[in-house]
Amino acid sequence: MYLHSPSLTLSLPAISLWLLLAALTTAYKPLSDSFLRAIPSPDSVNIDKGPLLSPLLIPRVPGTPGQTTAQEHLHSFFTSNLPSWSLTWQNSTSTTPATGSAQIPFANLIAKREPPWTKPGEANLLTLVAHYDSKRLPQGFLGATDSAVPCAVLMYVAQVVDKYVSQMYEEMSELGEGGEVDMDMGVQILFLDGEEAFETWTDADSLYGARSLAETWFTQRNPAGQKFYKYRTPLSQISLFLLLDLLGAPSPMVPSYFPTTHWAYVALSSVESRLRSLNLLESSPTRNFLPDVNATMSGGPISDDHLPFIARGVETLHIIPHPFPAVWHTMKDDGAHLDMKVVRDWCKIVASFALEWLDMMEVWTEPEGSGKFLK
Ligand SMILES: *[C@@H]1O[C@H](CO)[C@@H](O)[C@H](O)[C@H]1NC(C)=O
Ligand SMILES: *[C@@H]1O[C@H](CO)[C@@H](O)[C@H](O)[C@H]1NC(C)=O
Ligand SMILES: [Zn+2]
Repeated sequence: MYLHSPSLTLSLPAISLWLLLAALTTAYKPLSDSFLRAIPSPDSVNIDKGPLLSPLLIPRVPGTPGQTTAQEHLHSFFTSNLPSWSLTWQNSTSTTPATGSAQIPFANLIAKREPPWTKPGEANLLTLVAHYDSKRLPQGFLGATDSAVPCAVLMYVAQVVDKYVSQMYEEMSELGEGGEVDMDMGVQILFLDGEEAFETWTDADSLYGARSLAETWFTQRNPAGQKFYKYRTPLSQISLFLLLDLLGAPSPMVPSYFPTTHWAYVALSSVESRLRSLNLLESSPTRNFLPDVNATMSGGPISDDHLPFIARGVETLHIIPHPFPAVWHTMKDDGAHLDMKVVRDWCKIVASFALEWLDMMEVWTEPEGSGKFLK
């Protein structure tokens, strides 16, 4: 990603506003303390032996063998651990300023878990996003925070939410409750390719994967159906585009960037505060990772994978620290410079937010003896 100054104004088509209102009217019930306590420890992201993160700490430049290795890691994680998620590749090619006339391949992986009763295009989807490519230069650059950690965080989150989402889908199917407008909620994870510039960041030399996916989903029509609320395109199914980037360095400070999703920022911040007050996080920063509950940032936007989506009216929550980590785009952005307590805390914060968004209190049973009168 890249920081620049011109300001950006959002213009939302009326239909997006309607969908936003529809989303706002759904129940949003905070997770109980006992639910927060039950979120499993994210040990799987450890650098040395953790199976999620360490395979990604290699150069992952599009068009090189490292790209293929990273793709296989992401893909096999789902086929081995989460077989009920659907996996789709969205591929494109492009020339780059560094590679002459060669067509460089870019492949976005879309991992999706939808209610089993919905037909294609019927569910609204919490969309969690990170890029898995790494920067071409300096040679050997590993991009631990940029964005191996965000990818590993999202794999962990997928595992946590799958358990409860599966339970909800089963219970609703049995009760014949599926098909209510605000209940047809699913989750998808986008592992985007080609975020980094090959040479110097420009509109053409950056965001290769994101630009291709946003364009494809904008023009693609979902099959026509019976229901009036059916989403016309895969793009309009995105209820929130939650983009993680540059996470894993010590003492992150993530501002709220967009007024239209400030309420979602506040929800994320408040789940962080609750996890902290229950002593469920490991880091002890002087202030929250997400401190700006009363204000949105007034600076220019940060160029990142959300731009082609924002340009088409998608609501975005951008979780990227400002200032960037000190190791940003240097050889020091490696496993040794990560703060693993911060990494694990991000796992729990994002997982809790996703569970809350997906209304998982519906399937949570308070453990015996943990009633509110017992402390
Ligand atoms: C898209 O790219 C992925 C990853 O490289 C590959 O496995 C898949 O076969 C490609 N799909 C098509 C249709 O080319
Ligand atoms: C946000 O504003 C409220 C009401 O003015 C105030 O009580 C609270 O301390 C503020 N929070 C922060 C983090 O500034
Ligand atoms: Zn970068």
